Amino acid sequence: MIKESDLKILFREDEIQASIAKLGEKINSDYGEEDLHLICVLKGAVMFMTDLSKHLKMPVNMEFIRLSSYGSGFTSSGKVHAVDISLPDLNGKNVLIVEDIIDTGHTAKFLVDFINHNFKAKSLKFCSLLDKKIKREVEIDADYHCLDVDDKFLVGFGLDYDGFYRNLPYIGYI
Ligand code: IMP
Ligand code: MG
Repeated sequence: MIKESDLKILFREDEIQASIAKLGEKINSDYGEEDLHLICVLKGAVMFMTDLSKHLKMPVNMEFIRLSSYGSGFTSSGKVHAVDISLPDLNGKNVLIVEDIIDTGHTAKFLVDFINHNFKAKSLKFCSLLDKKIKREVEIDADYHCLDVDDKFLVGFGLDYDGFYRNLPYIGYI
């Protein structure tokens, strides 16, 4: 078990919150008063989505799906496991997928393909708190992201190691 005292801080709480507020403004200006359907990828994106949603000024709808791709280790398996992907009718809706981090990109690609295959959304965008571009294995880019990260295993603000540390208000690494 990693001890919290062994973690080094990568992004402080105030840095994370400032970047989320900035992203909120950008999304407000891009969508105006149009309804927006946020899809939170559990469990990692829960903190990010709730904080981001408080900055949004348009009518917002929230859905939650649960995927997993990391096992209990430090590297992405590349296989996406849909634990619960039940969604309402998204035809004709502005859909914004909200993720904690894009790493290999498999999860993002799986979700974008899944929604495009099942619905004809009015718009579909992908938003991630963190972008670990160096690890990308499939060609996919976030339409929006807050912070760039390099190849470190991160915990906090939704990100876990073996289920723990999601509750930290900052992002750290070992
Ligand atoms: P991808 O499919 O490889 O892009 O991985 C995306 C998922 O892996 C994210 O939604 C996270 O849940 C998890 N993940 C990727 N990097 C990290 C990390 O540094 N710490 C914790 N979880 C991570
Ligand atoms: Mg995740």
